[in-house]
Amino acid sequence: MPTATDPHTLLGAALAPANRIDPYPHYRGLREYGPLQLPEVSLTVFSSFADCDAVLRHPASASDRFKSSIAQRQIAAGEAPRPFGLAGLVDRRRAPAFLFLDPPDHTRLRTLVAKAFVPKVINELAPGITALVDSLLDKIEQQGRFDAVADLAYPLAVGVICKLLGVPVEDEPQFGRASSLLGQTVDPFIAATGAVPEGFEQRIEAGKWLRRYFAELIERRRREPSDDLISALIAVEETGDQLTEEEIISTCNLLLIAGHESTVSLIAHAVLAMLRHPEQWAALAADPGRVPKVIEEALRYDAPAQLLGRIAGEDMVIGETAVPKGDTMILLLAAAHRDPAANERPDEFDPDRKVCRHLAFGRGTHFCLGAPLVRLEASVALSAVASRFPAARLGGEPRYKPNVTLRGLAELPVTV
Ligand code: HEM
Repeated sequence: MPTATDPHTLLGAALAPANRIDPYPHYRGLREYGPLQLPEVSLTVFSSFADCDAVLRHPASASDRFKSSIAQRQIAAGEAPRPFGLAGLVDRRRAPAFLFLDPPDHTRLRTLVAKAFVPKVINELAPGITALVDSLLDKIEQQGRFDAVADLAYPLAVGVICKLLGVPVEDEPQFGRASSLLGQTVDPFIAATGAVPEGFEQRIEAGKWLRRYFAELIERRRREPSDDLISALIAVEETGDQLTEEEIISTCNLLLIAGHESTVSLIAHAVLAMLRHPEQWAALAADPGRVPKVIEEALRYDAPAQLLGRIAGEDMVIGETAVPKGDTMILLLAAAHRDPAANERPDEFDPDRKVCRHLAFGRGTHFCLGAPLVRLEASVALSAVASRFPAARLGGEPRYKPNVTLRGLAELPVTV
């Protein structure tokens, strides 16, 4: 019989879809248990700040899931390794998105894409972001109540990523559904249990659909280039051997999904936290200069990417834990952010805290490329919505998506 300190029970509760509303007591249980190791599935789970930070800094931490001992055993047995992660891994012959690559391929692809995220390019997006937020708030003003996800965070995040990539926003009903299904492929159920989760086939199909969608869009942009990232990547592909079409497709998948899921969560989580602390909403409404503090605290308090994965590229020692080469490591960032050794009064939402330590955008080689863009989008949206509706309050119970890794709100009713 499992006991309350049985590692399977603790991990199961932390990942259970039924606990998405408030997984934090379960994360706390894991953190207090300490590093958790399940040798039968070659898995180590870290949930303290120091351990998560140490794994991200460690030179032997790999992002290529095919280096895991489980994938290696499947390859050796002539089986197709179980896919893990975004669309690129649905089929081993496809190029994985660079989030799941190690140097040198990671460096080559990230360097090409990073040009689209330099401050000059991001700053040029600011007037468009402000205009989009204003138009969304104008509509909300007429309604008297709104859903902070469907009426604000989602259309903003989608509008911005579509503009940047060059994806027609009218196609949202199709790619929005695919992106949401693919967002679930980064949940660690296979890593934790070795079993294929429910709905898995549907996600594979969504991955195939999105790849076909981008292949067609790339063909269109080849004929009619535009001022967008897809056209820029095609131009690089056509001038040499730096990039293949499969890599362009995987990169587009990655950016579309990253641009959708976590940005929406950040904005919605910040709105929810402030409405549950109305003095914070009022303070932001009165002083938009507070918005950077609100954003950093929301990233810490309710991390949009609740966990990250790494593979031990060598035998490693993290703190006092020996991790065998090939183990999958889950880094429970959302638990690490609430580690009292890293942040004082960690369960309180307090934008004025003196020190706010978080790893919400990761650390090191894979640090989130979109971080400056997200901070810009969130700061425009949050300061504008609070100052336009200073008397806003929660209009009903928030509803969560079933996702574990990209945990986020499906609906957040607000009355203005
Ligand atoms: C609040 C919103 C966001 C959060 C919390 C977030 C978080 C993260 C995290 C934690 C990583 C590191 C993953 C790892 O180390 O394994 C990452 C990587 C990445 N993010 Fe974000 N992200 C956000 C939004 C965005 C947006 C809007 C974009 C682009 C439009 C983006 C693009 C990327 C890319 C391309 C990577 C891969 C970097 C690499 O592997 O070198 N992200 N993000």
